[in-house]
Amino acid sequence: MTNSFALPVISAPQHYNKALAPTAVPSGGRLIDNYGRPITYLRLAVTDRCNLRCFYCMPETMKFVPQKEILSYEEMLRLVTVAAEMGIRKIRITGGEPFVRKDIMRFLWAVRAIEGIEEIHITTNGVLTAPLMPELRAIGINSINLSIDSFDRERFHAITRRDDFEAVQRTFYQVLEHDIPLKVNSVVMEGKNTDDILPLAALTKEYPFEMRFIEEMPFNGSDNRAAITWNHTKILEVLRGEYPTMQKIEGDIHSTSVNYAIEGHRGTVGIIAGYSRTFCGACNRIRVTAKGMLKTCLYDNGVLDLKRLLRDGADDTTVRAEILQTIAHRFKDGYEAEEYARTQVSVLDSMSAIGG
Ligand code: GTP
Ligand code: 5AD
Ligand code: SF4
Repeated sequence: MTNSFALPVISAPQHYNKALAPTAVPSGGRLIDNYGRPITYLRLAVTDRCNLRCFYCMPETMKFVPQKEILSYEEMLRLVTVAAEMGIRKIRITGGEPFVRKDIMRFLWAVRAIEGIEEIHITTNGVLTAPLMPELRAIGINSINLSIDSFDRERFHAITRRDDFEAVQRTFYQVLEHDIPLKVNSVVMEGKNTDDILPLAALTKEYPFEMRFIEEMPFNGSDNRAAITWNHTKILEVLRGEYPTMQKIEGDIHSTSVNYAIEGHRGTVGIIAGYSRTFCGACNRIRVTAKGMLKTCLYDNGVLDLKRLLRDGADDTTVRAEILQTIAHRFKDGYEAEEYARTQVSVLDSMSAIGG
């Protein structure tokens, strides 16, 4: 297999086929869905593979997708180029773990060169990331979201099934050292890490980063959809108990997290109600999974097979028209998407295949 990949030939801008896209027509360069939500943000899962085995994300023995079923870099660059022409401005690179994919740094440089893409963000587990920080800074990565469910080595090991806490901790310090905006994600789980909420929140006193606590979602590669005990209200109670005067920050309406400032702290704390889905009304994001499925909601089952389209030789006009059609039929919220997906599958995907 060759190591190199070429940038795609970018076709001249073409007119959108409005006949094929009845409602989601680009207006002033913006993609708008059937509920009037502008779509400007693409989450791209570059691999489904991961070097950790977080139990809330995947089973211990995970069957990964064969390489040929994963989008190639050329295919992803072509999709990002088309997406940028349609108004996507922000890309978040996810996985699996993005940095386990060979040549990922060259891919990031290539994404950086795509006209229209204003921001590139990365979500990583941090195992391999610390030594890459100077290059990530040189590329101009806008921020890093780092998953750390516990700052206790043993609990980290128990949750991730790997003893890699020290490498991840190094990444935490290196991101701050390189002055790249940092958010830390921690999935809150009964009996696993609820004692970590306050120690993690306390780190924001000394370090300037966003500490976010996430409701567990049912994407662990099984059909276990048990209701969660730690929802956003309960997490908030714990934080308020310790920091009664913390103040809600009125921030970006597209943010998944509700964030709070604590007096005397350099960082902030926040909660992501991913299970309760409190933020669907302002959702500006779409996803492309590692296998090349377009998802217009995290909870849908993949609504357009982009890989098939590309490999069947579709031209850019057709790809655009199909994307527009799909965005014109978006689910109102994560509940509607989930209900529909439930009629189609019994086992929910692992988060590693979706990219969060
Ligand atoms: P930014 O807003 O770009 O910082 O992204 P993010 O914080 O949403 O992304 P990140 O990859 O850090 O994900 C944090 C958590 O939010 C993960 O548990 C994701 O699965 C969850 N999440 C991200 N997007 C969505 C979404 O659209 N819906 C729901 N329900 N959860 C989401
Ligand atoms: N529920 C909530 N968040 C999850 N993540 C992975 N699986 C789940 C889940 N089942 C988070 C990871 C990472 C982000 C991409 O998604 O912790 O921070
Ligand atoms: Fe968007 Fe679906 Fe997430 Fe809601 S649950 S914010 S609609 S992706």
